[in-house]
Amino acid sequence: TTWSNKSIGAIAHTNIALIKYWGKKDESLIIPYTSSLSLTLDQFYTETHVTFDESLTADVVMIDEQEVNGQGWQRVHDFLSIIRKRAEITTNAQVVSTNHVPTAAGLASSASAFAALAAAGSKAAGLDLSHQDLSRLARRGSGSACRSIYGGFVEWRRGTDDHSSYAVPVTADNGLSDVQVIALTVERHRKPISSRQAMRLSVTTSPYYPTWVKIAQTDLAAIKSAISNDDFTKFGEISELNAMRMHALTLSANPDFMYFNSETLESMNMVKQLRHNGIECYYTIDAGPNVKVLCQRRHVNDVVETFTEMLGADKVTLAKSGPGVHYL
Ligand code: PMV
Repeated sequence: TTWSNKSIGAIAHTNIALIKYWGKKDESLIIPYTSSLSLTLDQFYTETHVTFDESLTADVVMIDEQEVNGQGWQRVHDFLSIIRKRAEITTNAQVVSTNHVPTAAGLASSASAFAALAAAGSKAAGLDLSHQDLSRLARRGSGSACRSIYGGFVEWRRGTDDHSSYAVPVTADNGLSDVQVIALTVERHRKPISSRQAMRLSVTTSPYYPTWVKIAQTDLAAIKSAISNDDFTKFGEISELNAMRMHALTLSANPDFMYFNSETLESMNMVKQLRHNGIECYYTIDAGPNVKVLCQRRHVNDVVETFTEMLGADKVTLAKSGPGVHYL
């Protein structure tokens, strides 16, 4: 066959959600309760090579030069099986994946990993998927991965089933495509609670979850109009608010939990103080203690300097809008 033994490489960049995805309506297909919106980042990406090889007796998974077993292997294996089913093959695969992050772990993301694996894996299996189908496939690995198929601002339209739930690019031919993201890596260790478990807890126990589903629509519409109107202030305000509304779903769960550590809180306070002093910036935080600060180019030096002084240069990374998935 034409596909056998052909190694395909792909690169996908991670993304930061500005309107968060938090809660699965369908856990096995990963259909979210709400639509979300993100910015793909240039500084953090995953490079993945996939080869389907008749001589393999099982899938082999290497991540950052280490062979992966157990749960990590299972997750990749299950994802490859979705590809195999679609391509009507049964061959095992070798997956070699490398995460490129400026500082050690903590920022490596399942979003870039599954977007790269979807692209490399499907092509290596002989499939020629559209971006829309790649996005749907990546979604099955990790919800946020469906957005990393595209560069820049990306909206994940929640849809109602496997067919209708995928991401689309949001064009910003204006100043907002110049948004700067200062990533503060206050913690390099893995999060103690997986986003899957955490979402389930929020959905089933937070009394505020139904309100979140309602407000997410309003927040999404508002940020999209801020992007098209080149309104950085609105853009930043909505991003910060939406992030806090998501974290309120962890604080209000039973049992309650929290992703912030003391440096997270100090960084949040510093952002507010900078803003008070006329340096306009906002924060957003995903399912972990690391903070991403949003600002415009004219303030980036002040923001980077402030946090470098506060946390040390190794914890501060400047990122910008990054590209969509591509083949090597
Ligand atoms: O794609 P997952 O299962 O890792 O969940 C991502 C959840 C958040 O990062 C907190 C929000 C988002 O929209 O990316």
